[in-house]
Amino acid sequence: MFEKLTIPQELIPSDPRFGCGPSLIPTETLNNLAKTGNTLLGTSHRKSGVKNLVKEIQEGLTQYFELEPDRQVILGNGGATFLWDMIGTGMVNKASFHNVCGEFSSKWHKAHANIPWIEASKKEVDFGEGITPEKIEGHDVICTTLNETSTGVQMTSTPTYNDDTLVAMDATSGAGQIETNLKNIDFYYFSPQKVFASEGGLFVGFISEKARERVLKIENDKNRYKPITMSWKLALENSEKNQTYNTPSISTLFFLNESVKELNRLGRAKVTQLAREKADHLYQWAESKPYLEAYVHDEKFRSTAVATINVDEKIPVEELTKKLRELKVVYDIDAYRKLGKNQFRISLFHYVTKENLEKLTQLLSLAIESHL
Ligand SMILES: Cc1ncc(COP(=O)(O)O)c(C=O)c1O
Repeated sequence: MFEKLTIPQELIPSDPRFGCGPSLIPTETLNNLAKTGNTLLGTSHRKSGVKNLVKEIQEGLTQYFELEPDRQVILGNGGATFLWDMIGTGMVNKASFHNVCGEFSSKWHKAHANIPWIEASKKEVDFGEGITPEKIEGHDVICTTLNETSTGVQMTSTPTYNDDTLVAMDATSGAGQIETNLKNIDFYYFSPQKVFASEGGLFVGFISEKARERVLKIENDKNRYKPITMSWKLALENSEKNQTYNTPSISTLFFLNESVKELNRLGRAKVTQLAREKADHLYQWAESKPYLEAYVHDEKFRSTAVATINVDEKIPVEELTKKLRELKVVYDIDAYRKLGKNQFRISLFHYVTKENLEKLTQLLSLAIESHL
C-alpha cells in the first residue's frame, strides 16, 4: 500500500528515533563521550574517575527529585527486570500485591509468583485501562508501575501506608517526567534507557530507611535463599562507596549523568510541562482525525511519556512503519509487539522534541490520507 510513499523534505524529523526504549541518545552526547578520550572509558570503576561519575549521578538525582534525606540512591547491573527478582527474593517478606495493567507489570507479578516462598497476588485490568490503587491490607510490599510502557497507561497515585507495608514502584519509563509523590514510595526504581537517554543494563533505585531495614533483616535470615548477585546489603554498601557491585558499563553511566545534568538545568517542573505539551499535541492529533483514536480512553491514565494511538484497520500500520524505516525517516513507532494492535506507540521522552513530533504527526497524516 505504501510502496511509492515519499516524504517532503520539510516534514522529515531532524532525528528519526521515536522508540520507547532504548530512547534516542542525542548525537551531541555521543560526541561528548568521544571527547573524554583516554580519561574515562577503560579506567577502573574502583578509582576516582568512574566513582566521581557515580557520585555526580547520585547527587544529581537527589537534587532533581528533591529526595528526602533518608533516601539512598543505589545503582547496579541488570536493569529493572533484575530488580523484580531482587525485590521478590530480598524485600518481600511473605506476600506482595501487584497492580497489573500491561506487559511489564504482569512480568513483575510473574517474577514474584515464581518464588516458592512468597505469595504474589494481583489486581488486573484490561490492557489500555489503569488502576487507582486502593489501600490493601495483608501484603508487605505493594508493587505498582508508574508508566506501563506496553500500553501507555500512567498510574501516578499511591496510597499512604503508616504501618510496615512497603510500596515499590517501577518508574522505568516515567521517571524524570511523570510526577508522583515520592514520599509514599519506599523503593522507586528505573532503568535509564528511557527519559534519561542512556543505555540498558543498569538499574537506579531510591530506597527509604524503612525499606533498608526490611531488606537487611531479610538478608540476615539464614534460613532464606538469597542469590549473592541480588544481595541488597552489597548493593547498599557499594552505592555508599559510589560503586556498583560488579563492573558497570561506563558509557551508560556517562550518558545518564549528561541527562541528569541537563534535566537539573531545566528543573523538574519545566521537564514535566514540556512532556505535557508533547502529550497534548499527540492526543489532540488523535482526536482530530477520524481514522485515529487514543488507545487509553480515560484521560487521567493517558501517559505523558508514551503515547498509544489506535489506527483504523483499513490502514496497515506495520506496512507504513516498515516503509518509514526503509526511508530512514522514522524508527520504532509500532505497537508493543505482544499487544498485537494496529497502533502507533510513540515516545514522548525528554529528548524527543515537540518540533519533531509535530513533523511526525504531519507526515503520518499525509501518508495515511494520501492512501485512503
Ligand atoms: C515499565 C518497564 N519496566 C521494566 C522494564 C524492563 O527494563 P529492562 O529491560 O531495563 O530490564 C521496561 C522496559 O522497557 C519497562 O518499560
